[in-house]
Amino acid sequence: MSNNLEAQLLQLQQQGETAIAAADSLERLEDLRINYLGKKGELGALLRNMGKLTAEERPKIGAIANTVKEVLQERLDKQKQILESAQIQAQLAAETIDVTMPGIYRPQGRIHPLNGIIDQAMDIFVGMGYTVAQGTEMETDYYNFEALNTPQDHPARDMQDTFYLPDGNLLRTHTSAVQIRYMEKEEPPIRIIAPGRVYRRDDVDATHSAVFHQIELLAVDEGLTFTDLKGTVKVFLQAMFGDLPIRFRASYFPFTEPSAEVDLQWNGKWLEVMGCGMVDPNVLKSVGYDAEVYSGFAAGFGVERFAMVLHQMDDIRRLYNSDLRFLQQF
Ligand code: DAH
Repeated sequence: MSNNLEAQLLQLQQQGETAIAAADSLERLEDLRINYLGKKGELGALLRNMGKLTAEERPKIGAIANTVKEVLQERLDKQKQILESAQIQAQLAAETIDVTMPGIYRPQGRIHPLNGIIDQAMDIFVGMGYTVAQGTEMETDYYNFEALNTPQDHPARDMQDTFYLPDGNLLRTHTSAVQIRYMEKEEPPIRIIAPGRVYRRDDVDATHSAVFHQIELLAVDEGLTFTDLKGTVKVFLQAMFGDLPIRFRASYFPFTEPSAEVDLQWNGKWLEVMGCGMVDPNVLKSVGYDAEVYSGFAAGFGVERFAMVLHQMDDIRRLYNSDLRFLQQF
């Protein structure tokens, strides 16, 4: 009996050692451990026959069984180490970064030149205590013309200039409409800057677009004078263009009295850059302000014009084509 059991134990050990050495995964190894050394494993099954041994045989077989168990456990541990380190090596190899590979090109985003001008202008005016106001691009005749003291027969109301909508509304031809919308809701003192899109029935060419951008200024308070207007415009233009000569030229707008156009000396030439003036008392009256108490100044200018001058552009259409070769310069 004892010889038989001893042989079986040694055979089990040999089988186990071979199987463990051949195990190629940690899962397989765990299966083998359960199979040989687990509670219901093969070693346990053999030892259940110990009861049939004599008292002298038992310690001897017991010692052999212990050795078998220790050897198999040791082989399992060793193989586990080998497999684990192989796994780490494989992972390291798989995750290796080849620093010589070409990178993935991700073009950097940029601010569109029009937004750049608008941002810059907003910064300058916010620095002077102005807030940013918005109106609507679809307007009524009242806000775009009537309340801005623009009589029915004024050329600016001509069908050729304005996009009229079938319902009698229109696409605003200038941001001056925001003046009325804002003053209707607020009381003086007022200091706003209103950037936005405007629309005109112009033929598109190198200097004209049917859709373009303007920035409107409006200040209303007690005691504002033309000097305040001049000082504000000067500070703004110098911040935008640098310390260049500017001049105010008498002009006409229905909503300002007196009115002026501002020229800037750019590369030795006088360049018209904005319209402005003292808010016409009729405009103040149209929003219910007391024109005896309050006065105001207003100005408006084209963003495209500023962009073209500052960036030396020859064609306004480049601003709308979304051509990255062009836009990447800014
Ligand atoms: N709205 C005028 C235009 O589109 C520009 C303008 C001129 C705005 C004088 C003003 C201003 O606020 O006072 O041509």
